[in-house]
Amino acid sequence: MADEGRAAGDVSSANLDAIRSAIRGKYTEVAVSAEGKFGYPTGRAGAEALGYDAEAITQAPSGLLDSFCGVGNPFSLGEIPAGAVLLDYGSGAGFDLFIASRLVGETGKVCGIDLTEAMVERSRRNLSEAGCSNVEVRLVDGEQIPYPDNFFDVAISNGVINLSPFKAACFREIYRVLKPGGRLQFADIVLENALPVGMADSPEAWSQ
Ligand SMILES: C[S@@+](CC[C@H](N)C(=O)[O-])C[C@H]1O[C@@H](n2cnc3c(N)ncnc32)[C@H](O)[C@@H]1O
Repeated sequence: MADEGRAAGDVSSANLDAIRSAIRGKYTEVAVSAEGKFGYPTGRAGAEALGYDAEAITQAPSGLLDSFCGVGNPFSLGEIPAGAVLLDYGSGAGFDLFIASRLVGETGKVCGIDLTEAMVERSRRNLSEAGCSNVEVRLVDGEQIPYPDNFFDVAISNGVINLSPFKAACFREIYRVLKPGGRLQFADIVLENALPVGMADSPEAWSQ
């Protein structure tokens, strides 16, 4: 990918490895449990507060909910049709993959990608336990999505793009893999003011 496409605002290239490493470190811990690691409700309480389907929450294995740290409910933004092929960008421990799996049904397909190995392993275990046979999860940096052009009907993402120093590249990749007329339904955190000097280049700040 061209450097221009990965322009990262205030982040120095020397610090990118440190930022990625801090993100992997934090989410390796979250793969065990999200409890006490965020300034907003997570786990079952988070899913309930965000208006996820109550029956789906009840039926989700606890491992799926324990590490849930989404910031919104991408499913509230539009209906997911049965048979759809869906991408979850930064799929974490797999709760949104579980929800999507039920919505697209046996004729659909759900693909998760995540940067953190522990999250990918946890989600595969969780989804196998939940009996979701129409889901696959790949360990990958989301700025290079390992699927062909025009592959997905819908892309969702929940609390992920804010963690990337390369937001333009994230969106460009998501649009590349969406079919014409496909939809991106995402929830995320946005900054309202510029970060204090030094924080924009801080690995710890990027991994919050
Ligand atoms: C706040 S968690 C949200 C996880 C999940 N979407 C959920 O709602 O529980 C952010 C996730 O994004 C992943 N992530 C961060 N940067 C990423 C990137 N560049 N590509 C793919 N995944 C990334 C992290 O490993 C972590 O699992």
